[in-house]
Amino acid sequence: MKLAVAGTGYVGLVTGVCLAEVGHQVTCVDIDEMKIQQLKEGIPPIYEPGLTEMMQSNVAAERLRFTSNFQDGFEEADVIFIAVGTPQNTDGSANLTYVEEVAKNIASTAHKDTLVVTKSTVPVGTNNRLQEIINLTKLNPVKIEVVSNPEFLREGSAIYDTFHGDRIVIGVQSKEAAQQLEEIYEDFHIPIYQTDLRSAEMIKYAANAFLATKISFINEIANICERVGANVEEVATGMGLDKRIGSTFLKAGIGYGGSCFPKDTNALMQIAGNVAYEFELLKGVINVNRKQQIRLLDKLKQKYESLTNKRIAVLGLAFKPNTDDIREAASILVINELVREKANVIAYDPVAMDNAKQVLSPTVNFASTIEEALVEAEAVLIFTEWDEIKTIDLNVFAKMKTPFVLDGRNCFALESVKDFPFEYHSIGRPALNLESENLLI
Ligand code: UDX
Repeated sequence: MKLAVAGTGYVGLVTGVCLAEVGHQVTCVDIDEMKIQQLKEGIPPIYEPGLTEMMQSNVAAERLRFTSNFQDGFEEADVIFIAVGTPQNTDGSANLTYVEEVAKNIASTAHKDTLVVTKSTVPVGTNNRLQEIINLTKLNPVKIEVVSNPEFLREGSAIYDTFHGDRIVIGVQSKEAAQQLEEIYEDFHIPIYQTDLRSAEMIKYAANAFLATKISFINEIANICERVGANVEEVATGMGLDKRIGSTFLKAGIGYGGSCFPKDTNALMQIAGNVAYEFELLKGVINVNRKQQIRLLDKLKQKYESLTNKRIAVLGLAFKPNTDDIREAASILVINELVREKANVIAYDPVAMDNAKQVLSPTVNFASTIEEALVEAEAVLIFTEWDEIKTIDLNVFAKMKTPFVLDGRNCFALESVKDFPFEYHSIGRPALNLESENLLI
């Protein structure tokens, strides 16, 4: 089948590449000419394990191509996926300008029946609206049907998720559209859940909000564990053994970040607010996350009255491992605050430093190794559980000027830390080797 994908961001590019991988003819379209040029040279604009190789092999097999010309991209396509961004407006709602623009472009280009598949995360009712826009704008007497097909892939394991998802959700208006989508996804061998347009749109927001809720819940349990001397990891394991709860998404830490959970939870607050519903639980989830993101800073300030001229090392900048994405990362929030408090910050991340340099104050220094970041440091804050950090020789921390470690991602087993001469605080677990009786809660 001939497919086009509008938008070559995370969702669009991964979708395009994976659809080509199972044998479809795919054209990826983006208005950003520089990006398209880069893609034509075989370089993806994002860091995603396995993506470069799969992209290049599909281009070589002539199943995948890139263009910045909408007409060229859409003309031949039987099915067009919309995967452009829906950034957050200042009030938390989703900005639909790009999605609507693509819909208009499709309507003005189509000269045969076309299925339009919305992958972008859009508020409930948007796909109905896109259908109306298309019906009003289309130039030729063709049938263009809009369907909703929300995306659940995670950054860092996007390719794996695309081929091993738990379900594919499709919201459709006709049997024919459902059949066409089933054909497209046939070779993925993933169960398809078929529903109506609005429910499909809501599934995406509800799923992300629920996962965010699990994280904020376990983080609050962690904060209580610290006060009562329990260990949140033991608690999460014990809870997760109950199949009704499940063991995933119960990892305590410094909160959720990234391009989805913060944006989608805010958008769902808006969606509820628009129909005069106060989503109290989700409001709590968002507030808890805000506080959790600065948890390490709170602990640091309990140790040091003033941070002026203190050399503070930061390990890990990405919002999670295996990505260079720093959007809504707790590291950035905390570093900005450290800079405001006149600390000397030296940061290290295996892949996200280039992105971080673009948003952080020029006074922040960057180290090329973990060891270099720790030289003369009076505290180290760990924000991302990169393998490189988790497997480090723990002796490096003992060599710091003040061996004081604040681990926001529980990178090390307490058992392996206890014999090393550094003070160690993590999330929801007993502190080790305390210099004083200060629990830092
Ligand atoms: C998420 C959803 O998982 C995905 O289905 C959706 O399509 C997009 O949003 P992503 O943002 O890539 O994907 O990352 P994810 O792995 O889900 O992690 C999100 C954040 O939650 C990260 O900051 C991560 O560190 C944090 N997290 C996750 C926890 O703090 N604890 C957990 O147990 C799980």
